Amino acid sequence: MGAGGRTGCAAQRIYCPLILLLLLFTPRVDSSWWYIGALGARVICDNIPGLVNKQRQLCQRHPDLMQSIGEGANEWIRECQHQFRHHRWNCSTLERDHTVFGRVMLRSSREAAFVYAISSAGVVYAITRACSLGELKICSCDTHKRGRASDEMGDFDWGGCSDNINYGIKFAKAFVDARERMVKDARALMNLHNNRCGRMAVKRFMKLQCKCHGVSGSCALRTCWLAMSDFRRTGDYLRKKYNTAVEVTMNQDGTGFMAADRNFKGTTKNDLVYVESSPDYCLMDRTAGSLGTAGRVCNKSSRGMDGCEVMCCGRGYDTTRVKRVSKCECKFKWCCAVECRDCEDTVDVHTCKPHKRPDWLDLT
Ligand SMILES: *[C@@H]1O[C@H](CO)[C@@H](O)[C@H](O)[C@H]1NC(C)=O
Ligand SMILES: *[C@@H]1O[C@H](CO)[C@@H](O)[C@H](O)[C@H]1NC(C)=O
Repeated sequence: MGAGGRTGCAAQRIYCPLILLLLLFTPRVDSSWWYIGALGARVICDNIPGLVNKQRQLCQRHPDLMQSIGEGANEWIRECQHQFRHHRWNCSTLERDHTVFGRVMLRSSREAAFVYAISSAGVVYAITRACSLGELKICSCDTHKRGRASDEMGDFDWGGCSDNINYGIKFAKAFVDARERMVKDARALMNLHNNRCGRMAVKRFMKLQCKCHGVSGSCALRTCWLAMSDFRRTGDYLRKKYNTAVEVTMNQDGTGFMAADRNFKGTTKNDLVYVESSPDYCLMDRTAGSLGTAGRVCNKSSRGMDGCEVMCCGRGYDTTRVKRVSKCECKFKWCCAVECRDCEDTVDVHTCKPHKRPDWLDLT
């Protein structure tokens, strides 16, 4: 922004407060590093919209890490869509849109909390894995895991390649959090908190893997290493945290937040937190970034989020019969194949009706 000449605000007593107000209430630019995933192998740091300076510097210094973060982005977005496939908001992305998820993320909602957490978990996961695979110049397996150690089954020797989760966490923190350190407001605090939750979620599911040595697998000697679990574990965990996310409000001095519910006991340290309630996501609403649930498949016999009643927000559903081909009458044939027949059956597929416009809006 230009400084507005030497006279600055003094000469424009009237306009300056106005401009300041406008700046305060203009939604922040919401394109994000998330977009790296859509760029594939074409990561060129200057062309990624939405990187803040610090992120751009890290990008230029570590192009190989950006590659991993980009591949990782597609994975955590897929995991998000898996976790929310039965929800009205289903973590859908917009094609060729720098914001990736659209205007939904402008709101400091529970859904935003989840996306920040899983995206930052995704970066930890992707970088840690790339370190172990030897794909990155700056990191490798965890070299601190050496010598002897023991667990409940006895002594073992560290060996193999332990995942270097601490490096993954360190880089993810530097890169992902950089953007939230630009401003100090409720949203930034919320994002920082949820980013951290995501990073820790990956660490939570590190597990010891061992190989037995000794006479005929007696396991008298073990070599072990620490490995990350499947990313699904992190996804499932964060999804549970989404269900129990805590609404918070800022402190008076703006340095932290507390649970909005005064009866809330304990700390929010390991919880996802959000500031604003969520829209119902029932209808298409461009300003809120909601796609609505018209046309979504629902389950007639479910009472959960995927049930037609909930998914369609009471608008009702259409039913279409579709033919389905599946394998049936499978027989085991000696040796070693399974032979099946193709069977056709029909199933009913239910999809949510669109919103009925009120008559006075009907222009036909
Ligand atoms: C998510 O919902 C949108 C709009 O309701 C729909 O177009 C899209 O196909 C859904 N995506 C998935 C993966 O179900
Ligand atoms: C629909 O919901 C019922 C009850 O929750 C469940 O048993 C069934 O598997 C679901 N059907 C599909 C196609 O998901």
